[in-house]
Amino acid sequence: MKAVYPGSFDPATYGHLDIINRAARFADELIVAVLNNSAKQSLFNVEERMAHLELLTADLGNVKVECFSGLLVDFVDKVGANMVIRGLRAVSDFDYEFQMALTNRSLNSNVETLFMTASTQYQYLSSGLVKEVAKLGGNTKDMVPAIILEELSKRFV
Ligand code: PNS
Repeated sequence: MKAVYPGSFDPATYGHLDIINRAARFADELIVAVLNNSAKQSLFNVEERMAHLELLTADLGNVKVECFSGLLVDFVDKVGANMVIRGLRAVSDFDYEFQMALTNRSLNSNVETLFMTASTQYQYLSSGLVKEVAKLGGNTKDMVPAIILEELSKRFV
């Protein structure tokens, strides 16, 4: 089974890596799909976000990193997959994820969304909070891998 794990990954966190590692155990092939959306202001550009994820998943032989723009379901179709994986944290994620899954299904009923519960220690973690903490001089070492920590420190000196 070929699955797509899409997201902004701005930046990738331990929460994302946890989902990637767990999904790579049951998917034959997992494509980490980085959203390339010029309308959305990001801290790291799409090439940087892909490079981070490539380094972070280098030890996983069945994981590939790609980028996409436009509709997610079209990308899923294009790569010959039929499953989208999303991580679910506490209840706050539910509304948005539910809407997105149903919208994607209405656009392409061949695409299934599979929700994976985030591991307990990452329930609170989000890229947005990581950026805020880093910007304000806080330590994000428990939230992101070392290479991201280093990249964040270059951006927020
Ligand atoms: O990490 P994020 O920002 O929560 O990921 C959101 C993402 C990239 C999965 C979502 O915004 C998306 O799929 N965008 C592509 C556009 C699209 O297909 N929209 C319709 C489905 S809601």
